[in-house]
Amino acid sequence: MGGLVEHGAKDLGRLNDEHRLMESRMQLIDDAVDSPDDPDWQKDVLRKSVRFLAENLPGHMYREEEGVFLTAANQLGLETTVDTLRQQHNDLRQMLEIVQQQEKHHQWEALTLTMTDLVELLRDHIAGEETGLFPVVSQWGA
Ligand SMILES: [Fe+2]
Ligand SMILES: [Fe+2]
Repeated sequence: MGGLVEHGAKDLGRLNDEHRLMESRMQLIDDAVDSPDDPDWQKDVLRKSVRFLAENLPGHMYREEEGVFLTAANQLGLETTVDTLRQQHNDLRQMLEIVQQQEKHHQWEALTLTMTDLVELLRDHIAGEETGLFPVVSQWGA
């Protein structure tokens, strides 16, 4: 049972750091989406962003699901919040699949649209975790 405590405040620092990295990347994506006059740079940013997300998002979500989500649902009674966050993870996984396919097939216009949706959901999701979940887990684990 001691392992559950280790999934408390200790892991939150890393998750928060990763959120900040994702936010920097999303700011760059915003800038690229807003720069249709510079298509080469736009494509370069989008291509690298797909790679960044593919390399960083799945592991981050997996660690949350195996760590703070379990703690929050099983120990802290936050099942409803965790259900919503899990569903968002599944939606993000699907969108990540789609942007990878779009990038592979050079569907830049479609990629720009899907990426915009992905960024919007990821921002909502991070806000939900940092307001509705992490503070409770942090208090409990402290
Ligand atoms: Fe998450
Ligand atoms: Fe997260």
